[in-house]
Amino acid sequence: MSDFELTKEQLPVHIGIIMDGNGRWAKKRRLPRTAGHTQGAKVFKRTVQDCRKLGIKNATFYAFSTENWKRPREEVEAIMKLLIQYLDDIKAFSKENVRIIFPGDKSVFPDNIKNRLIEIEQTSLNNDGFNLLVALNYGGRDEIVNAAKNIAKDYKEGIIGDIDSISEQQFENYLYTKGIPNVDLMVRPSGEMRLSNFLIWQCAYAEFVFMDVLWPDFTMEDLTFACREYAKRNRRFGGV
Ligand code: FPP
Repeated sequence: MSDFELTKEQLPVHIGIIMDGNGRWAKKRRLPRTAGHTQGAKVFKRTVQDCRKLGIKNATFYAFSTENWKRPREEVEAIMKLLIQYLDDIKAFSKENVRIIFPGDKSVFPDNIKNRLIEIEQTSLNNDGFNLLVALNYGGRDEIVNAAKNIAKDYKEGIIGDIDSISEQQFENYLYTKGIPNVDLMVRPSGEMRLSNFLIWQCAYAEFVFMDVLWPDFTMEDLTFACREYAKRNRRFGGV
């Protein structure tokens, strides 16, 4: 690992993290897959603090995708139970000037959970120290289709007068990540090298860092390593 100091300008403004490898971590220890998720949730909480300590301002964690429902019922239930358990911890961040957003389609959740998610978002709405996004029932394609539907509705209702006036910037106002800058750095531990339908619009010019560490073993050193890799990249955004 290189050891140069990271300046504020070198840090990603928005980091995305795919918390992958929980199942393999558990298997290596002959534990049930759910034990990997339990450890993964602890690492999630610590990594939020680590991002803040480094000075990153926006972090989106992939907690549950629109495709994860295909997993065995017991596993889905265990992840949901964990998420519900952690909602108090997530809400507690709002006392530290953290804004919390749950990108994803909340309509599938029972009313009590859905209302709790909305309540946490609303309580923290005016916080501006750090934006914590926890993607739940999130799919990038679903997000874009949802945006297209809402644009069509607004056109029908006359809120949008002229279709040709719709710009990329305006389109972004219909995404779950409205108001949050696009992703600069996407980190995926566990050795897999794909995006898995995560923030596909927002990652148009993201830098990717894939790492061999499994998510439950992910440390501040790994986060710093990913940020140093990012700092070395030459971003041209299609220019020269
Ligand atoms: C991917 O690892 C992980 C998930 C699909 C679930 C992530 C959930 C958590 C970390 C816990 C809850 C989160 C919060 C925010 C409290 P995998 O199971 O696909 O691992 P594998 O590829 O090794 O099987």
